Amino acid sequence: MTKNTRKILVTSALPYANGPIHLGHLVEYIQTDIWVRFQKQRGHQCTYVCADDAHGTPIMLKADQMGISPQQLIDQVSAEHQRDFSGFMVGFDNYYSTHSDENREFASLIYTRLRDKGHIAQKTITQAYDPEKEMFLPDRFVKGDCPKCGAQDQYGDSCEKCGATYSPVELKNAYSAVSGAKPIEKESEHYFFKLGDFEAFLRNWVDNHVQEQMIHKLNEWFEAGLQNWDISRDAPYWGFEIPDAPGKYFYVWLDAPIGYMASFKNWCDNNGVSFDEYWSEASDTELYHFIGKDIAYFHTLFWPAMLEGAGFRKPNGVFCHGFLTVDGQKMSKSRGTFIMAETYLKHLRPEYLRYYFAAKLSSGIDDIDLNLEDFRMRVNADLVNKVINIASRCAGFIKKKFDGQLSSQLVNAELYNEAVAMSESIATAYEKREYGRAMREIMALADKANQYIDAAEPWVLAKQEGKEQEVQDCCTMGINLFRVIVSYLAPVLPHVAAEAAEFLNIDSFAWDAINTPLLDHKVNKFKPLMQRIEEDKVNAMIEDSKATLAAMAAAAPAAPTAEKTPLQETPIADEITFDDFAKVDLRVARIAKAEHVKGADKLLQLTLDLGGETRNVFAGIKSAYSPEDLEGKLTVMVANLAPRKMKFGMSEGMVLAAGPGGKDLWILEPHDGAQPGMRIM
Ligand code: MSP
Ligand code: ZN
Repeated sequence: MTKNTRKILVTSALPYANGPIHLGHLVEYIQTDIWVRFQKQRGHQCTYVCADDAHGTPIMLKADQMGISPQQLIDQVSAEHQRDFSGFMVGFDNYYSTHSDENREFASLIYTRLRDKGHIAQKTITQAYDPEKEMFLPDRFVKGDCPKCGAQDQYGDSCEKCGATYSPVELKNAYSAVSGAKPIEKESEHYFFKLGDFEAFLRNWVDNHVQEQMIHKLNEWFEAGLQNWDISRDAPYWGFEIPDAPGKYFYVWLDAPIGYMASFKNWCDNNGVSFDEYWSEASDTELYHFIGKDIAYFHTLFWPAMLEGAGFRKPNGVFCHGFLTVDGQKMSKSRGTFIMAETYLKHLRPEYLRYYFAAKLSSGIDDIDLNLEDFRMRVNADLVNKVINIASRCAGFIKKKFDGQLSSQLVNAELYNEAVAMSESIATAYEKREYGRAMREIMALADKANQYIDAAEPWVLAKQEGKEQEVQDCCTMGINLFRVIVSYLAPVLPHVAAEAAEFLNIDSFAWDAINTPLLDHKVNKFKPLMQRIEEDKVNAMIEDSKATLAAMAAAAPAAPTAEKTPLQETPIADEITFDDFAKVDLRVARIAKAEHVKGADKLLQLTLDLGGETRNVFAGIKSAYSPEDLEGKLTVMVANLAPRKMKFGMSEGMVLAAGPGGKDLWILEPHDGAQPGMRIM
């Protein structure tokens, strides 16, 4: 290791363990991954860790709804997340979970240190409580009519119609989104982190550690005053119990950022690296967090204050990015632009998107737009027509005429040196997360390389006698320029780079390797490295997205998913088209058998007869029916729901029921004359 080798620890935000990775998330993971790959290519010791954010009420309730344990849910989602990240070549050094021993220990340690220094306060507060489900309700789980405009079915913290913000007690006709019961008010003692104790520290710290655009936002927060932060939740809660407070749990956002430390600790233990070297107060290693702007409050105020209070090092930078829009609008389920990572990968190569995001990303916090038409044109024009083309135009001659052997000289050393001289400027752009600028510089170089080949015309020379040397020389130039360009693009296109390395017959793309051109060197057979994006592939992906999301929506009622009170983005409920609706296959079914399910307190297992075909379905109607009430009855089921694996077995459809819940729940019963298997129109 040389004197200038930096030791850098990098994180991306920890995705919630209750939903799939979508293209919006990927802005962040691709942005971070490019930065990490760049640092590694430069020869630095850079470690990239992440984890699933596995705690909190939404995860607890979702598991409950699915009839599985929270542990089962987070295991399942973690596997899916890791599959999707690796599909997009996001190369974590470690991917862990906040529900881990390491995290429990660090959360307790940090809390205890804060408490011992007097930074924790206790106070009794009044909160909405669901008397039926016997739990306190987070604001997002209380719904009712907006106190300001009267709009119905609004969340307990803000109104989607008029934008008003309020507290759940102000809602009219409030009900619990969990059970439908009318919430009561109940007192409970909570633990608070005294953020205000750190105001002077934070005002000073933010100046050199967050982006210019964020400083304005932070100043607004300072002006508004730093409030005590409620870090405890009452049982039942899926998380870590507070060490000196039985029945009280750490709020998910307390242990979530600590998850960065826990994932790194887990990696250190597996790789013989010193954790303390990176996290002690006096550490001279570097630490950077990449995050979306919606979670800036947690990362630029709570997190540095917690670290300061507990005697750990602070980040060198918190890098915020903007949100992804598709075709100029918020991602939409009905338009098919809410695209999941998995759906994208069924139709398109990950590197197309990596390049497109890179071309659009800057160090700022502005939103970035995925314009599907522009995406296709840009990738085709830049990567396929410009970059890959350089190699395709030269490789054939070198292989056929010279058995893969490159010349021993660069006939246009000036052009080659010009290409290599761009190295520092491009490196600076990557370092500063000005990827758009880096891509523009690289494409300008690719234009020059193509112009060089256009002028040299190897295909004309190849037909002339006595021009062998010239052909070999100009193709050697072309291939060397291609190598420089791919080296610059390697952080963005890891797979293309790996295949190009095979063709070029080189071991790696260490950043400075291009200082020595490839001369008197044998290259391998060239295989086309990337195909054009065809329009029908993009269209197929959109159609697939619509269908997948319609099926998911039919399988599970929309539930609040996020726990981010500060700067919450309000989700907009989407209309569905008639076509979406027409996809739902509703059928009359006869309940041939109904049974209790051992260990399930909500589910009944139903055998449904569809007029010949039978289906096994788990239905959450035990609170309203006993099995003997059901057998022989006709009801309505969704017959084309993708089978879902539940804790107790496979569920192959869904029965429809209506009512607020509990005893008041009625399965739909068709009129006499209906026959099992009939389609409902
Ligand atoms: N679990 C928290 C983070 C805890 S970090 C200690 C969380 N999870 S998330 O799954 O909702 O988001 C993960 C990251 O993806 C966040 O940084 C978020 O800003 C980012 N994005 C989620 N949707 C996004 C877009 N549509 N566009 C860009 N980034 C987006 O927040
Ligand atoms: Zn309103």
